[in-house]
Amino acid sequence: MSAAHEQGHQTPTAKGSPATALMTPPPPSLPSLPGHPKVDLGERSAPPNATARPWSADPYTDALRTGRGPLYLRRSDGWLLPLEVERWCAEADAADREVLRRCEGAVLDVGCGPGRLVTALAAQGRRALGIDISEAAVAHTVRLGGQALFRSVFEPLPGEGRWDTALLIDGNVGIGGNPHALLRRMSQLLAPDGLLIAETVPVDVDERVQVHVADGRGASGTDFPWARLGTPALLRHARRAGWRPNGQWAAGGRSFLALRNRRTSSAAEPPNSTAVTSSQRDRNPSPDRPVADL
Ligand SMILES: C[S@@+](CC[C@H](N)C(=O)[O-])C[C@H]1O[C@@H](n2cnc3c(N)ncnc32)[C@H](O)[C@@H]1O
Repeated sequence: MSAAHEQGHQTPTAKGSPATALMTPPPPSLPSLPGHPKVDLGERSAPPNATARPWSADPYTDALRTGRGPLYLRRSDGWLLPLEVERWCAEADAADREVLRRCEGAVLDVGCGPGRLVTALAAQGRRALGIDISEAAVAHTVRLGGQALFRSVFEPLPGEGRWDTALLIDGNVGIGGNPHALLRRMSQLLAPDGLLIAETVPVDVDERVQVHVADGRGASGTDFPWARLGTPALLRHARRAGWRPNGQWAAGGRSFLALRNRRTSSAAEPPNSTAVTSSQRDRNPSPDRPVADL
């Protein structure tokens, strides 16, 4: 891995982006997921605060458009974590298909990216919704025939407390940079006894970092918190939060952990979780800032 030469930050902007164009006009509503409320893809199609959406930075958008890297998460000390854009933009591979085989019922893919898992599930006639804070990722998923919503996992979501399976794949355990808060949020989203499938770092690591998306050629987004967890660390955090281990495996050089939610609902959620009011947005303006910490 070579050290990349970086210039100053670019402020991400939603203005006139191809992703925005792709999403306009949106279909009036997504088909209803059985047992789940209808989701209006048109709502919130523009970010309330573009600078709070670090994955909307141009390098990520550009990489999704071309389907190619190089793309990295870059720490301020120059440490680079390569992001596998080519694999994310390809069809689900054998390791992905093993994840999909284990999914149960209605599936929520958190941080779905360009949507290979959501679209593979849809092609199998299974119920799946992707959510992502990148317009380009959501547009890509919808274009491939998957259902996706431009929304942070920490914002109100359809079907809270009723999803049978939730996915945190390709390092998405790192979302928000606070595994406790993310696990707690996943517990709220899943049905009691629901299944969480998470991809972990294939080494024993448990770290919180400040990173930004960078292409290694000078373009970069804004800093945001991220976490990297190996299976032992995720198991430790999950057990403490009341999750039950439900299997771990490796495939294609990647490692995965399945966890079961508590059997009783742990959600303290608003009765109408699908209605996003302006006051709710104001209280939680940053998608990468968890609603509540433990
Ligand atoms: C490491 S990439 C994973 C890509 C993806 N799983 C795929 O198949 O291509 C992280 C993804 O999570 C999304 N993301 C980051 N923070 C998020 C949040 N708070 N809520 C929802 N998605 C988020 C990013 O926009 C990005 O698409």
